[in-house]
Amino acid sequence: MSRRPFVAGNWKMNCTLVEARELMSGLRKLVQPGIPVDVAVCTPFTLLYPMGRELDGTDIKLGAQNCYFESKGAFTGETSAAMLKAANVEYVIIGHSERRQIFGESGDLLRSKVKACLDGGMSVIYCVGELLEQRDAGSTTDVIGRQLAEGLGDDLDHGRLTIAYEPVWAIGTGRTATPDQAQEVHAFIRERMAGLFGADAGNTMRIQYGGSVKPGNAAELMACPDVDGALVGGASLVAEDFASIILASAAAVSR
Ligand code: PGA
Repeated sequence: MSRRPFVAGNWKMNCTLVEARELMSGLRKLVQPGIPVDVAVCTPFTLLYPMGRELDGTDIKLGAQNCYFESKGAFTGETSAAMLKAANVEYVIIGHSERRQIFGESGDLLRSKVKACLDGGMSVIYCVGELLEQRDAGSTTDVIGRQLAEGLGDDLDHGRLTIAYEPVWAIGTGRTATPDQAQEVHAFIRERMAGLFGADAGNTMRIQYGGSVKPGNAAELMACPDVDGALVGGASLVAEDFASIILASAAAVSR
């Protein structure tokens, strides 16, 4: 089964407008149109409109890092799906481990957010991943299975859903899952997705790996049969590094 790779940059809480313009000008030069990979950059809210304009004429899509599930009203500090859609956002990251851990987002809340984004016409990158102590205790698949079950329901428009497997112990630590560790969990996720949405959806759904993906480890991770791209944090803030990860994913297409 060949799936088109999808590489997304998660800028997290980084970049002023000046810094973002510089990064984007590098990316525009390095990521040529026509590359056989879907590419997105998920910027902070303040950068969505200006970066959307900078992406005009490129194949790079715009993404956000969060979205509230209510449509409008007295929710200070929040942003709705309709607001993101109006800013030309195509992808929204939901359930990142930093949202789960630092901001205490629960499975129920995440499920509402996933649904609001899909119903609002955007695509969702739904993140799952285990803590180091959970891996050490042998409960990785229990944790991932629970996160998938909590955040997703079989009523969703799964054609616009991507799963990102991000072991929490690998995020921003420089410690990456080995290709075997990644493949094992990706295969498990694919099986769960087939169970929830049907065999076809299981085959076609893209599952990104995330957690210290760098130019030096991208090729071996992308070579895994069930790894269909990457969700990239730190390395997406360096145009050359992000471009090199995209190229490694493109090279994996012809595997
Ligand atoms: P990292 O972050 O690449 O800096 O480890 C990945 C992520 O949190 O999405």
